[in-house]
Amino acid sequence: MPVITNIEDLKRIYARRVPKMFFDYAESGSWTEQTFRDNTNDFEQIRLRQRVAVDMAGRTTASRMIGQEVAMPVALAPVGLTGMQSADGEIKAARAAEAFGVPFTLSTMSINSIEEVAEATTKPFWFQLYTMKDEDYMRRLIGRAKAANCSALVITLDLQILGQRHKDLKNGLSAPPKLTPRTIANLMTKWAWGIEMLGAKRRNFGNIVGHVEGISDASSLGAWTAEQFDPSLDWGKIEKLKEMWGGKVILKGILDEEDAKMAAKVGADAITVSNHGGRQLDGALSSIRMLPRIMDAVGDQVEVHLDSGIRSGQDVLKALALGATGTMIGRAFVYGLGAMGQQGVTRALEVIHKELDTSMALCGEKSVSNLGRHNLMVPEDFTGRWA
Ligand code: GLV
Repeated sequence: MPVITNIEDLKRIYARRVPKMFFDYAESGSWTEQTFRDNTNDFEQIRLRQRVAVDMAGRTTASRMIGQEVAMPVALAPVGLTGMQSADGEIKAARAAEAFGVPFTLSTMSINSIEEVAEATTKPFWFQLYTMKDEDYMRRLIGRAKAANCSALVITLDLQILGQRHKDLKNGLSAPPKLTPRTIANLMTKWAWGIEMLGAKRRNFGNIVGHVEGISDASSLGAWTAEQFDPSLDWGKIEKLKEMWGGKVILKGILDEEDAKMAAKVGADAITVSNHGGRQLDGALSSIRMLPRIMDAVGDQVEVHLDSGIRSGQDVLKALALGATGTMIGRAFVYGLGAMGQQGVTRALEVIHKELDTSMALCGEKSVSNLGRHNLMVPEDFTGRWA
């Protein structure tokens, strides 16, 4: 077994193990992928201030997200088709998150269903909701998340229509994969994945298949989105959903100050500053670059989380130092899952924790809650460059 010291190591193993269709699904952005690239590149522009001779004994990364205790402020983001990266991938990721003490978010577009994940875990997880045209289905979906004791509803706001990802179209992405000569040729080189997948509880969209009538193609994310997602979602509907849920609500996909103010006004418990990992509006600014502006606009009114571009504990530290209370990782845990299953997700969390803890100590801080702008060197034009 190779020695894994960083997230890139997991990505290399993941690329070898998982069929191209699913690797490409995780590893792409929309259109030119400019925003996808900016998300990681912009983190690199921020530097850390080294401090010395500060007692670092007894330091901790523990804190809270939406009032819940977390071992570090890093939640697993909702990722569609996680159960195609590894058999029963949502169950494995949820178990790894639970053991580590960080929140797991189950996507509406997951393979394992809400009920399957609830049965396989002992602590509440978060459920991510895509709003659908079929109100009855929505109501039932929210009811299922409540019955499963989910402790937050994460409503994604930036995917009413799907940003075009060229590779997914070219690969004919679907769950389970459709058997064409090209997919068969690729699957034959990924035999370990295939054997494992034969034993999976499920190989289709568990929250959808068997729960909605009249879908023409429930195997394709693209077709399903075009047919079922509600293009008319607005703030009024968000307030209704919040009421229907009656618990903690996180509004995910906020990238603009005005939207952040609206989210605070409707009473969100937290917002996630996100551009969906560069998968939706290509050409949008990175999440980390938008964070300071959003903090200025609503930082005193609503808890702010950030995702898109986090691949290390240093990235987590930078987001926290710019004001976020928490972060989410998507690809970083998917690499681990695809590489080594549950153990790989645990390894991804360990890697990020170690990087966060060590970097925090070398910045002269003993607690993530003390991190602030004073820990960073940020280029003068970092937020002001784009007007
Ligand atoms: C869905 O959430 C996607 O980004 O593919």
